[in-house]
Amino acid sequence: MNTEHRVFNENLSAAMRMGEDEAIRFVDWVRGAAPYFHAFRGKTFVLAFGGEVAQGELMEDLCHDCNLLAALGVRLVLVHGSRPQIEAEVTRRGLASRYHNGLRVTDEVALECVKAAVGVTRIEIEARLSQGLPNTPMAGAFMRVTGGNFITARPIGVVDGVDFQFTGTVRRVIADEIAADLDQQNVVLISNIGVSPAGEIFNLAMEEVAEQVAIALKAEKLIYLCDAPGLLDEQGRLIETITAEEAERKFNAGVGLTEDLHLFLPRAIKAVRNGVARAHLIDRDKDGGLLLEFFTRQGVGTMVARDPVHRLRQAGTEDVGALLQLLSPLEADGTLVRRGRELIEDEISRFTLVEHDGMVVGCAALYPFPEDGMVEMACLVVNPEYRRAGLGERLLQHISGDARSRGFKALFVLTTRTEHWFRERGFHEASPDSLPGRKRDLYNFQRRSKVFLKAL
Ligand code: ARG
Repeated sequence: MNTEHRVFNENLSAAMRMGEDEAIRFVDWVRGAAPYFHAFRGKTFVLAFGGEVAQGELMEDLCHDCNLLAALGVRLVLVHGSRPQIEAEVTRRGLASRYHNGLRVTDEVALECVKAAVGVTRIEIEARLSQGLPNTPMAGAFMRVTGGNFITARPIGVVDGVDFQFTGTVRRVIADEIAADLDQQNVVLISNIGVSPAGEIFNLAMEEVAEQVAIALKAEKLIYLCDAPGLLDEQGRLIETITAEEAERKFNAGVGLTEDLHLFLPRAIKAVRNGVARAHLIDRDKDGGLLLEFFTRQGVGTMVARDPVHRLRQAGTEDVGALLQLLSPLEADGTLVRRGRELIEDEISRFTLVEHDGMVVGCAALYPFPEDGMVEMACLVVNPEYRRAGLGERLLQHISGDARSRGFKALFVLTTRTEHWFRERGFHEASPDSLPGRKRDLYNFQRRSKVFLKAL
């Protein structure tokens, strides 16, 4: 047997040893990720990380993941920082660092340290990105890494009486040139330095460079790898998705922000307000974090989103399959009355759907009883994986609003299992006699559903 065959057979048996559950999960996973493969092709991602990541243990895996993204047709810009490397250089030379407001004051000697440290960091990242050993995810995939004088800078100047000297701020991003490089299928690597028209070099904050690059390139995503899993709520739970407005409120409240979040969150907010669709804050110590964030719907970090991830819309005939999928587990366990494809097809126009990134994850139907001035809300269902997002609430509000605007006076539901949910939302129990006549005739006494009613 030649080596190629042997390896193939070993792989085959490894795949079979996967076990059925694992194999099913794998296939589900790839299918679940497929919409994102399509969505990301040709889109620009700006990935920002500090010098800690560049010199850390996960850099190699990060390069593999970048390689994968590039292979999927993502236009990739990497922006790196060099703070620990600069720090080490300063110490090596027996000097001391000076900071003001979390920003280095770069005097002439410090600038020498910056140049040395940035140079070394950049070369090392390039080297990592250029690996291609057989048997690694980089095998056979050459990533051409380019960079250049894409960032012009100006001095920050004097702030609070402190002269920042060679610490600068971004003056302009030469976006056309970066885009031209990306058009050539290069990965663009940008360092945290910029040059002034007079030829002076400035030390820049990598988070600002990344934000400015993302805005100038009209990137789809700006991603910061940071020292925290993401933003946490008051209970210490991860906030998966947040709007720029909410994020700003969190930032101003200022509680529980790590050093990185403090620096990166305002940048993420600004980017999203200036056209970047999504900014992501991801744990830099989590191997595979990028893949989990990009290729699952929930992600692993916090996403600051320009547009709402959830969208309500009217169902159409093309949604029948998705609806059946959503309802069938609940019909199977008796929570809902079985409807069947034909009935759903007939009644499709009564359904409102809620989508998450284009996938149907919840629904509710409205049945009017105009002769009694009442409407029924039926089939309120949210996919269990999305139960924390308040989608049931949104569907209820939507249906109530719709009914109210059409002049109905009361909304009722029949439920066997979720009465507490309706009670908490202002419904009260009523007798089956209070139902509209037409509904009363259909009332299924065997199901012993409870009737809950709310005035509109
Ligand atoms: N995979 C999708 C994307 O990259 C959604 C990620 C959602 N992430 C989150 N933290 N809520 O756009």
